[in-house]
Amino acid sequence: MTSGGDSPGMNAAVRGVVRAALGRGSEVTGYLHGWQGVIDRESMDMSSKSVGGIIYQGGTILRTARSAVFRTPEGRQEARQSLHESGIEGLVVIGGDGSLTGARIFGEEFEFPVVGVPGSIDNDIAGTDFSIGFDTAVNTALGAIDKVRDTAYSHERVFVIEVMGRANGFIALEVALACGAEAVIVPEVPYSLLEICDNLRKMHKKGKRSSIIVVAEGAARASDIKDFIQSNTGFEARYLVLGHMQRGGSPTAFDRVLALRLGAMAANRLLSGFRSEMVGVDGEKLVSHPLSYVLSTERTIDPEKLLLVDVMAQ
Ligand code: F6P
Repeated sequence: MTSGGDSPGMNAAVRGVVRAALGRGSEVTGYLHGWQGVIDRESMDMSSKSVGGIIYQGGTILRTARSAVFRTPEGRQEARQSLHESGIEGLVVIGGDGSLTGARIFGEEFEFPVVGVPGSIDNDIAGTDFSIGFDTAVNTALGAIDKVRDTAYSHERVFVIEVMGRANGFIALEVALACGAEAVIVPEVPYSLLEICDNLRKMHKKGKRSSIIVVAEGAARASDIKDFIQSNTGFEARYLVLGHMQRGGSPTAFDRVLALRLGAMAANRLLSGFRSEMVGVDGEKLVSHPLSYVLSTERTIDPEKLLLVDVMAQ
């Protein structure tokens, strides 16, 4: 199943799971709408053909959902019953933090074999360098910001651009470095708007007439930051919230290959008897960690990357 917020590359992960498992002689069922689909008994048989032609598609052919019912013991009991009725012997759950937490609880409550695959644009999951979709989301945001740069330059304006990332600044930081932002605001580190305004004035004196400020959704609202900057500096400012466009689109080669590798590995691990773990990537190597470790460990942003944004803005 794919569960929680969709991310580009989830289809490639489904393809990886299905073809690796079929290759080992297993039967594969795809549940629609994540955990909710298990409860509602919405599923499809996954043949090799069913995952043909999806590697380049964003979204997820299995659809996805955040199930409120599954968060209740009764909902999970119903999900267990549904799996039992269908003779399902193990689950691969492709999703983010919330979905993997659900997988862990379910696995423990019913001693049911579950292997997780990190699928989230937020890249906030421990135990893997990258989660599926992050690279695509960063590139999608970057493409939009590069276009905004043109108009910011022409009109000599400050643009404040809000990116996704829930409570984390991984997307914001990566995008800020890649687009050459003048400042980045992330939830993990305190920031001073007065300091940002001072820097903008200094840059203005040196002749820099337009600026891009990237703000993570978990840190502040782009509209508020824009208002503050405009009234404090007198510079004309605009804001843009990139929103869900960051979740869509054809996955990058990086995300496709990552997803295929992780999906295939998850199927292989499950079929080899491993359970309650998440597969991930450490450099070029595939790894796996217990879900208990993954979900109790916080992923932190790299302070050197944060510093580099300021150094590069000088
Ligand atoms: O977790 C992925 C994500 O896109 C976050 O970056 C964002 O905060 C959230 O999902 C948005 O959720 P929804 O699609 O429910 O609005």
